[in-house]
Amino acid sequence: MNKEQPEPLAINFADEAAMLEWATAAASLLSSGLVVHLIGDLGMGKTTLSRGFIQGLGHEGKVKSPTYTLVEPYELDRFTVYHFDLYRLSDPEELEFMGVRDYFSPATVCFIEWPEKGVGVLPQADISINITQWQSGRCLTLTANSDNGQAQIEHWRSL
Ligand SMILES: Nc1ncnc2c1ncn2[C@@H]1O[C@H](COP(=O)(O)OP(=O)(O)OP(=O)(O)O)[C@@H](O)[C@H]1O
Ligand SMILES: [Mg+2]
Repeated sequence: MNKEQPEPLAINFADEAAMLEWATAAASLLSSGLVVHLIGDLGMGKTTLSRGFIQGLGHEGKVKSPTYTLVEPYELDRFTVYHFDLYRLSDPEELEFMGVRDYFSPATVCFIEWPEKGVGVLPQADISINITQWQSGRCLTLTANSDNGQAQIEHWRSL
């Protein structure tokens, strides 16, 4: 049977504040058990978007880019979030040594910057978020790669 490809969700944000406002609202609708790949050029806003979600889920401290530690855990009220930045990963095998497979579970959400660097070891994304320049702000394009990812995007479509 030919399953119809769902429409990606594309949203333009005029500035960082607008994107963070959306991320806060989106966090309140976020379910666990999702792997979210954040794709975009250097400085496009991947960490900023992750920060919006993590703070939207109730984290009150800072959210810094885990460039050197590769991953930062956030134990939040509803579930644990792992925020990855794989920019400095030289070999996907390093992720195996970290025991990274244990991070992906129905009880967690993983946001992954530079997932390209972990190909072969990282699980497929449930949702890919592409971030591109739009005027002086950003365009987010959200694409689902699983039924769970699709259900999540449909929840966000109502925002
Ligand atoms: N929606 C937005 N509109 C305008 N500027 C933004 C937006 N989101 C983030 N920025 C700005 O873009 C810059 C880089 O953001 P950020 O560090 O989040 O990017 P990144 O994609 O994580 O970069 P890297 O590839 O180095 O990890 C920051 O100065 C931030 O203020
Ligand atoms: Mg970053």
